[in-house]
Amino acid sequence: MKVLSFSSSCLAFCLLALGARANDADVLNSALNLEYLEANFYSCAAYGEPIEQALWGANGKEPMGCQQAMLTPTALAYAKAVAKDEIAHVSFLRQELGDNAVDQPQINIGAAFEAAANAALNTTLNPSFSAYGNDILFYHAAFIFEDVGVTAYKGAAPLLENVDTLEAAAGILAVEAYHGGAIRSLLLEQSEQTVFPFGAQVKAIVKAIADLRASVSGGNNDAGLFKPDSMDYILAPADQNAVVHTRSTQEVLNIIYLNADGSVGGFFPEGMNGNIN
Ligand SMILES: *[C@@H]1O[C@H](CO)[C@@H](O)[C@H](O)[C@H]1NC(C)=O
Repeated sequence: MKVLSFSSSCLAFCLLALGARANDADVLNSALNLEYLEANFYSCAAYGEPIEQALWGANGKEPMGCQQAMLTPTALAYAKAVAKDEIAHVSFLRQELGDNAVDQPQINIGAAFEAAANAALNTTLNPSFSAYGNDILFYHAAFIFEDVGVTAYKGAAPLLENVDTLEAAAGILAVEAYHGGAIRSLLLEQSEQTVFPFGAQVKAIVKAIADLRASVSGGNNDAGLFKPDSMDYILAPADQNAVVHTRSTQEVLNIIYLNADGSVGGFFPEGMNGNIN
């Protein structure tokens, strides 16, 4: 029994932590913020429009930087398929939360991508990175999010009390993981290609994005496309047991706010809505 090994100094703190424990609605609302982000990104990329306003909530905000991506039929088909899933996740979580659902926060899916790319490569790209410029740029933008969703749902699992909610969250995690696997496959097909304006190969850019995510979220919890110094594929960001990495809510916030100290910014210029932010 793990609880018996708690030291006495932990006791007060742990009871405090227990009292302040996020409830299921807080956790689902945190997930809903991520789904708003993903749904709007893919909807913009595929259709040039954010998700329908009926899904924003009464005081939901229009996303900044929405653009239709210039995609070939293959990439457009991927964008549409993922958009459909992410919009369904928004709709489902809003329905599960009912009156407790948070409104769509201010989302930035334009300049935030430029900032993320500059941060990953530790440079100021000129011209700047556009998530919507062509297939390969869009795939990199998609890669920024998908693994984050997977690790976030994994981290949220032990916070959920209701088993039906947990089952639904597991189902959503699985769909995000399929998206993550699909995007890795699409990137692997072109891993040696040098990408403008990065001036680097796909595999190096993807590794830089994964390294950035790891560096602002607790260390060894991410992976590029290949094992170090090898051509062996990495299909899932997972530990030595092939169990996908976990991220705490704070670690997830650090990534999507693009700030290692957790202050708001990046993809959520005013922070996420709800009690976890
Ligand atoms: C980023 O670039 C700056 C200036 O070019 C350099 O001083 C710094 O060490 C770089 N940081 C990393 C993490 O490579």
